[in-house]
Amino acid sequence: MKQTLLGQVAVVTGSSRGIGRAIAQRLAREGAVVVVNYRQSQEAAKVVVDTIRGQGGQAEAVSFDVSDAQAVNHAIRDIFNRHGRLDILVNNAGGTLDQLLLRLREDEWERVLRVNLTGTFLCTKAALRWMLRAHYGRIVNISSVASHLGNVGQTAYAAAKAGIEGLTRSLAREVATRNITVNVVAPGFIATDMLEQLPDVLKQAYLQLIPMGRWGKPEEVAEVVVFLVQPAAAYVTGQVIGVNGGLYM
Ligand SMILES: NC(=O)c1ccc[n+]([C@@H]2O[C@H](COP(=O)([O-])OP(=O)(O)OC[C@H]3O[C@@H](n4cnc5c(N)ncnc54)[C@H](O)[C@@H]3O)[C@@H](O)[C@H]2O)c1
Repeated sequence: MKQTLLGQVAVVTGSSRGIGRAIAQRLAREGAVVVVNYRQSQEAAKVVVDTIRGQGGQAEAVSFDVSDAQAVNHAIRDIFNRHGRLDILVNNAGGTLDQLLLRLREDEWERVLRVNLTGTFLCTKAALRWMLRAHYGRIVNISSVASHLGNVGQTAYAAAKAGIEGLTRSLAREVATRNITVNVVAPGFIATDMLEQLPDVLKQAYLQLIPMGRWGKPEEVAEVVVFLVQPAAAYVTGQVIGVNGGLYM
């Protein structure tokens, strides 16, 4: 099969595990040179890189915290300088800190917004500079079904993810004439470490609500991301695509 992303350079934030790892592996299978970003888990990132290389793909691990502007700018510039291009950015790094609003401290609220929303802003701004020069780019931001349905204990997380969707639509308009697309993939409940953190009783309750009656797989999210970053998906921008087994429609 023809590889559709041959020679392209892709950065996937937070890709040492979970959904990010599946996206990194899938992009590599399409021929992209994949930058596996991680914050602390160097060992896990190395395993992802080794797996990709073992399958004949190209990857490297690069550490930076998406919420640290200086670190992001430095890393993205360095990636561009070494490869001479940056075609694809997937803003996947994120996390939640569940707490009822009345108990949610201001510093906790800010931490959740910082990683999910500000992190997406910082990485996008750093990468966009190079994409604008090239008159080409594909940006995919990972949101969540929580931003559409709401979720008890996730006011900060849902606000951050809804913010990502607003950012996406506005930026899509700003860069549309430059062959740069900006879209959102909004996963439902996907079987990763994040899901493991939920109490069993909550998991059972959520499962009842999913028309397909099962959790999603990271690979099923990756498949939609790969579609959106194709050169052929040039006319799809500013969209939010759910991967949620029918949980929200
Ligand atoms: N798993 C789900 O059910 C689900 C549902 C909806 C949305 N999502 C979203 O999908 C994305 C991936 O989630 P996941 O389930 O794979 O979770 P995960 O916790 O397994 O992975 C998140 C990754 O982001 C990294 N990360 C966190 N903060 C970072 C920072 N400041 N800088 C760099 N990396 C950082 C983590 O180290 C981790 O590798 C997240 O944005 C999450 O909000 C997940």
